Amino acid sequence: MVLIAPSVLSADFGNLQKDLEMINQSQADWFHIDVMDGVFVPNISFGFPILNTINKVASKTKDVHLMIEKPERYFQEFKDAGADILSVHYEASTHLHRSLQAIKKLEMKAGVALNPHTSISVLEEIIQDIDLVVIMSVNPGFGGQKFIEHTYAKIQKLKELILKRNASTLIEIDGGVTLENASKLITFGADVLVAGNTVFGSNNPRETIAQLKQI
Ligand code: DX5
Ligand code: ZN
Repeated sequence: MVLIAPSVLSADFGNLQKDLEMINQSQADWFHIDVMDGVFVPNISFGFPILNTINKVASKTKDVHLMIEKPERYFQEFKDAGADILSVHYEASTHLHRSLQAIKKLEMKAGVALNPHTSISVLEEIIQDIDLVVIMSVNPGFGGQKFIEHTYAKIQKLKELILKRNASTLIEIDGGVTLENASKLITFGADVLVAGNTVFGSNNPRETIAQLKQI
């Protein structure tokens, strides 16, 4: 069954606790938490004070997506702030293998996110070491963007690679996921769907999560 990860980026930060509790009570599986540094992406989201607040309230797996340069500087801090899964961007990692080992040594699951232009083939030599691949289906930086259709072909390629190497990597789709495209994403091989605007832009976020979960 597909895992649903509502993106906290689209929550109401004036009422963060309320939105986090809604996710706790919903059928959502994970919290998707986007950290942006204003350098790797043209936006700044939030850092450790907010992560610590989320950690106090959020009772499910915290899936932290780092859109930052030199992410390896802060692995210990993200562990201390409650991250269960830590994903770095392929494009921000000169020593990806070293980073994945360091994340796992801190007893977190290790993820790699790929920008829309980055080919799945760059993961060929390292797929066995990756717990989660985050396929970006929008250009990272903002919620509420339009889904890039080429993503389906990338899911298919990644699924083939995972099967070929007998890896246990999960495939997460991040950006522009809707009630309309979710079913096709699952058919192509998605294991985890991130949803920001679809959940928090709806009249009844908890019900929307239930609908995504039922697809
Ligand atoms: C984009 C972030 C996403 C974003 C998704 O840079 O990585 O996680 O919150 O938001 P939606 O679902 O609105 O595209
Ligand atoms: Zn994200």
